[in-house]
Amino acid sequence: MSNEVSGLPHSENDEMRTKSLLTSYTYNEVEEIAKSVLNRVKCRPTLGIILGSGCGKLAEGVEEKEVISYKDIQGFPVSTVPGHEGRLVFGKLKGKSVVLMQGRAHCYEGYSPQKITLPVRTMKLMGVKVLFVTNAAGGINEKFSVGDIMIIKDHLNLAGFAGINPLVGMNDERFGPRFPALSGAYDEELRKIAKQTAADMGMTKFFQEGVYSMMVGPSFETVTECRFLKLIGVDATGMSTIPEVTVARHCNMRVFGLSLITNKCVMEFESQEFANHEEVLATGEMRSQDLQRFVAEMVSKIDV
Ligand code: HPA
Repeated sequence: MSNEVSGLPHSENDEMRTKSLLTSYTYNEVEEIAKSVLNRVKCRPTLGIILGSGCGKLAEGVEEKEVISYKDIQGFPVSTVPGHEGRLVFGKLKGKSVVLMQGRAHCYEGYSPQKITLPVRTMKLMGVKVLFVTNAAGGINEKFSVGDIMIIKDHLNLAGFAGINPLVGMNDERFGPRFPALSGAYDEELRKIAKQTAADMGMTKFFQEGVYSMMVGPSFETVTECRFLKLIGVDATGMSTIPEVTVARHCNMRVFGLSLITNKCVMEFESQEFANHEEVLATGEMRSQDLQRFVAEMVSKIDV
């Protein structure tokens, strides 16, 4: 099968590349990767921000930018999806030293959850203390509208039910405990600041708070799956974020998450609507200014 058809990253050596899709990394290896990245930039980030589908524009507000492509970082997974640039952007946002991941990799691209979370551990060993995650998600909660921004209160790791968890395997206590708690994963204090910030900026109309779930994808959900998600208390669903948050909490980073509701999940069998990636990107485009302003304001308010 050619790469065009399979969706795997292009590479001169496909066999090597396929092998590297699945690898997980030891503490010493991550330390080496973190050092090699820091050697190439002046910035010493304490805040990391992962930009999901359609959220990449947030990087525009960063000053004193220093950029490294994922393909130039040993081991980093390269996203194959439109809307995911695939680079680290270092710099200053509201005076804070930040590193942004402009684009992320997903399990549905064939990467293991260990592989897609390598950047989070790299950030940790670069000195990042607080992680912001953003994603595009389908609205399950019928009160949500396209273009709403949901503060993530909690998550439901449906992929975890099927054995997909980045912490599966040997545990290295230098990263964190064998059995980390994930209650309170989404920092209460940061969520409070977010709600206050949304109010101060006159954005409450399109701000929500709720539970995010992840299925692996890349197929969107069936009607029955959407109904099931609603039944079990999910407000919005996507194909990312949970592996990164799991790893970030394991190594004791504070986490804050936002989902941009890019479409309403189809709940009726008779519906003639179908979820699609173009809609996801278009909604990202529509809300990108608001998201950018909001995140910048949040960053200015937090102690990091
Ligand atoms: N389902 C899963 N992932 C998504 C969706 C969706 O409806 N929209 C954006 N990402």
